[in-house]
Amino acid sequence: MLQHAITFNHVSFEINQMNLLKNISGTFYKGHITTLIGPSGAGKTTLLKMCNGLISASQGQIMIEQEQIERIEPTVLRRRVGIALQSAPLLKNSVYENLALPRKLQEQKLSKEEALSFLQAVGLGANFLMREAADLSGGQKQKLSIARTLVNQSEVLLLDEITSALDPKSVREIEDLVVQLNEKYGVTIIWITHNIEQAKKLGHFTWMLKEGQLIEAAATDALFQSENPVVQSFIQREVAL
Ligand SMILES: Nc1ncnc2c1ncn2[C@@H]1O[C@H](COP(=O)(O)OP(=O)(O)OP(=O)(O)O)[C@@H](O)[C@H]1O
Ligand SMILES: [Mg+2]
Repeated sequence: MLQHAITFNHVSFEINQMNLLKNISGTFYKGHITTLIGPSGAGKTTLLKMCNGLISASQGQIMIEQEQIERIEPTVLRRRVGIALQSAPLLKNSVYENLALPRKLQEQKLSKEEALSFLQAVGLGANFLMREAADLSGGQKQKLSIARTLVNQSEVLLLDEITSALDPKSVREIEDLVVQLNEKYGVTIIWITHNIEQAKKLGHFTWMLKEGQLIEAAATDALFQSENPVVQSFIQREVAL
């Protein structure tokens, strides 16, 4: 039976009288990978940010499992629902200090041994611990950014185009890492990608957004065989690029 990780009930988001998300209803299932696709400006990032309270719905309701999102203490919510972005914002400091940040925010410490175990989980060796985060390659920064979300043991991981600036080898490594987090630790993944092959290959479920609307949400195989002309034309155009 599919369990609900995050549920949107008639969620809209308005800013400056613009309707960026329109009446979105749907469920992200626990322990599964949902890929989010759609043209630039569709509202994908906006939707993702709502999943960990970075922005709040103007109308409708978001549930984290059985709880209304606004009833969850923000620091608890950010811990339960981690986010990694394309640019992987890091402290100008050592890898260790970057890893320790989530704990520091909770006035707790991260031991060197723990830090090493998180680095190991993302495929970075012990020699990385005291290196400057700023000097890492793009792929390594992205791994560190994911390792930092592991420190919180997030139940849900929100990923916004985390591989779009990486070379093919690093893309594969990050993909393998995320799949492993999902399979080994049961982390629920919500993954925005412009790479249609990636969305198809890694998703269990896929949502397609356009102009603030959820056009279709379905099992990934079904979505990629959708009869909906909006979905078809988007997929065909992306594949042709
Ligand atoms: N704070 C804001 N104020 C005004 N407009 C905004 C704000 N945030 C986003 N928008 C607009 O809302 C629309 C959706 O933005 P969003 O970043 O969610 O799109 P996206 O699907 O993630 O696009 P991309 O694939 O290019 O990242 C865009 O037109 C964007 O310019
Ligand atoms: Mg975006």
